[in-house]
Amino acid sequence: MAARYQISGSTSAAISASVESGIRAGDLAPGDPLPAVRALAGELGVSPATVAKAYQVLRQRGLVATAGRHGTRVRPRPPVAARRAALLPPPRPGVRDLSGGQPDPRLLPPLGPHLAALAADIGPPTGYASVAVLPELAAVARDRLAADGVPATELTVTGGALDGIERLLAAHLRPGDAVAVEDPGWANLLDLVAALGLRAVGVPVDDEGPSEPGVRAALAAGVRALIVTSRAQNPTGAAVSADRAAALRTLLAGRADLLLIEDDHAAELARVPLHPLAGVTPAWAFVRSVSKPYGPDLRLAVLAGDEATVARVAGRARVGAGWVSTVLQRLVLSLWRDPATGDLVRRAAGSYDRRRDGLVAALAARGVAASGRTGINVWVPVPDETVAVTVLRDAGWSVAPGGLYRIAATPAVRITVSPLDEPDLPALADALTRPVEGGAPY
Ligand SMILES: Cc1ncc(COP(=O)(O)O)c(C=O)c1O
Repeated sequence: MAARYQISGSTSAAISASVESGIRAGDLAPGDPLPAVRALAGELGVSPATVAKAYQVLRQRGLVATAGRHGTRVRPRPPVAARRAALLPPPRPGVRDLSGGQPDPRLLPPLGPHLAALAADIGPPTGYASVAVLPELAAVARDRLAADGVPATELTVTGGALDGIERLLAAHLRPGDAVAVEDPGWANLLDLVAALGLRAVGVPVDDEGPSEPGVRAALAAGVRALIVTSRAQNPTGAAVSADRAAALRTLLAGRADLLLIEDDHAAELARVPLHPLAGVTPAWAFVRSVSKPYGPDLRLAVLAGDEATVARVAGRARVGAGWVSTVLQRLVLSLWRDPATGDLVRRAAGSYDRRRDGLVAALAARGVAASGRTGINVWVPVPDETVAVTVLRDAGWSVAPGGLYRIAATPAVRITVSPLDEPDLPALADALTRPVEGGAPY
């Protein structure tokens, strides 16, 4: 706790280093408050401006956040080896963990046969000179995207969706720039935006995607980028509908000052049609990860976009990390081409739909409103997240507190359905009615 950790230093650099060191060591945990600027200045015998400068640097690096009357606090996942798990109550024996946001490992395609087939015809080692996006992978990716209405003439490959988004933001924006993100939205994206020194502007999201007035307000606030989750929005399950896409396309048409990023992370797992915005702005990118349908450890996403945007991402990668291993690219290609894997992914999509819809329906039958139109999560509004997380943990369920995903959105908990089976749903729904009604912890 901040009360126990003594921040030291007589310059802003030393003070921010002292806070960073406290975070690294775990003495300052996610959510811990830092002392008020004047109080710390008094303690350290420095001017308030010196402490304010130290806090500003920490904020720009995404280590802390300042939120009005809540003061300055350590962010949920500061980019210095702090673990998000520190925010969650420690799991107790027998507690089912529904907090993870992971795909169901029982429904991921087995990689062994594909690795064995690759091993049989891998050929000579690939060297620095001959690496790039594999033409065969690019061709299949292009066809798959084109079938969904995404013009993918230009594309590259990144180490997952978030890697692609990081590269896009770094290539187009500068620290201090504002970026519009869904609220509630994906916690890791909020952490990334903070770590890049960007300012997140929340856009309310409903079942049909980011709200039009919300996007309008974000544009008026001068955002330089807008990130939209196409389907299986995390945490609410929203998917951009045809009507919402039409409205947003009208609003965004021709905006030369805005980078539009679409994140289609669930890809084949989302069984609603894609309504892309791709191409409506001169600078755009559409990122499709393989993590959810094929496995997060594959670390691969396809990034399509306008020529300049794709060239920036690919060119910057070339002078840095280089490329996504062609071994990995071959593995993904093998999965995409395998009809049995395609069947498994379709079965997985149906299974998530049944469990998610089943939970939403079981909650509705108990008078509890929840969202979860697509994907692997259900978002349940609650009066008090701490109470809800505690009540549910005592009933045997670990869920994620909504605070990780919210800017101005109202409190809720996120439930990942991957570890659930359909017979579990009534008991979980029963357990959820208590915190939703505002019950105290047992
Ligand atoms: C909205 C969103 N985008 C992307 C991802 C996956 O990203 P990656 O490809 O980096 O694994 C997730 C995973 O939970 C997500 O929720």
